[in-house]
Amino acid sequence: MSWHRKHLLDIESLTAEEILTVLDTARGFKAVGKRAIKKVPALRGKTVVNLFVEPSTRTRTSFELAAIRLSADVINFTTEASSLKKGETLKDTARNLEALNADFIIIRHSASGAPHFLSRVLDAHVINAGDGAHEHPTQALLDTFTIREKKGKIAGLNVTILGDILYSRVARSDIWALTKLGANVTLCGPSTLVPKTFEKMGCRVTYDVDEAIRDADIINLLRIQHERQRKTMFPSIGEYTQLFGLNKARLAKTKPDALIMHPGPINRGVEIDSELADSSRSVILEQVTNGLAVRMAVLFLVNGGKELHAAEAP
Ligand code: CP
Repeated sequence: MSWHRKHLLDIESLTAEEILTVLDTARGFKAVGKRAIKKVPALRGKTVVNLFVEPSTRTRTSFELAAIRLSADVINFTTEASSLKKGETLKDTARNLEALNADFIIIRHSASGAPHFLSRVLDAHVINAGDGAHEHPTQALLDTFTIREKKGKIAGLNVTILGDILYSRVARSDIWALTKLGANVTLCGPSTLVPKTFEKMGCRVTYDVDEAIRDADIINLLRIQHERQRKTMFPSIGEYTQLFGLNKARLAKTKPDALIMHPGPINRGVEIDSELADSSRSVILEQVTNGLAVRMAVLFLVNGGKELHAAEAP
C-alpha cells in the first residue's frame, strides 16, 4: 500500500508503486460493484463537486456514480448555468463551492494546469478529470487497470497508441503510466500529430501504421481532437482514415489476441471501423466499466483510505 497524496493531479509525478496501489484498490471496488448492495460508507458525510468546464460523458458520469457508491453527497456543476458565464473566475467559483463545504473538487478544464492551480488555492481534495492537452490521469489508470485485467500483466507488453498524440491528454497520461509500469510504448499517427520529441518520454515513434500495430498486444486508438487543433494538421478526414484508421484488413495483420482500446468518444468510421469497435477484440466498454472502480479507488485513497475492508464496515 503506497499512497499519501491529498490530490490526484497527474500521472507524471506518481511512482509505479502508487499507480499499482490505485489498481489494486480498484480491483477491490470492482468486486464490491458485483454485490447486491454496491454502496460502502467510506465517504459518508463528504461532498463531492464535479466541476466540469468542458463536456464529458464517461468521466463525469463515472465520478458521480463513484461518489454515490462511496456514500458521498454529489453536486454536478453546470458551466452553462453558472456565474462563470457572468465573468466569475475559476478561483472564485471553486472557493465559493468550498465555502459550501465541498470536500472534493473534480475538475475538467480546457486550460492545462487548472487542477494544479486549484490545489494551491483550496483546502479541498482536487482531482484532475482532464486539463487541456496536459493529462487525464484517471483515464490512464482505468486503461492500465483494463490491460492488467485482460492480459494479467503490463510489464513487457507492446502497447501502440495510434492517432492524435500531440493534442491528447490521454496519450500523455497513458505514456507516463505504461512506461512506469514497464510496457513498451509505440506512438503512431501523422507526423504533424506525433512529433519525435515524444520519444523523450521513453516511447518509440513511427509513422508506419502496419509496422506499429504488427507486434502490438494493445492497440489504443485516439480521436482527432479538432477542438484543440489551431490549424489543419492533415489534408482531410478521408485521408486520415485511409492512412491511419483501424480496419479489418489492418487488424488481420496483427497478433490474433491484440486488443483494441479507445478512451471515447469514438468517431466511428474515422479512427476505427464501426464493426471493429463492437467486435470481440474491442474492450472499449469494459474500459468504461473499469472507470467506475478506478474512480472509487481514487476518491477513497485521496481521502486517506487505507484498507478496503475498513471502508466496507457499516
Ligand atoms: N474518455 C473521456 O474522457 O471521455 P469523456 O470526455 O466522455 O469524459
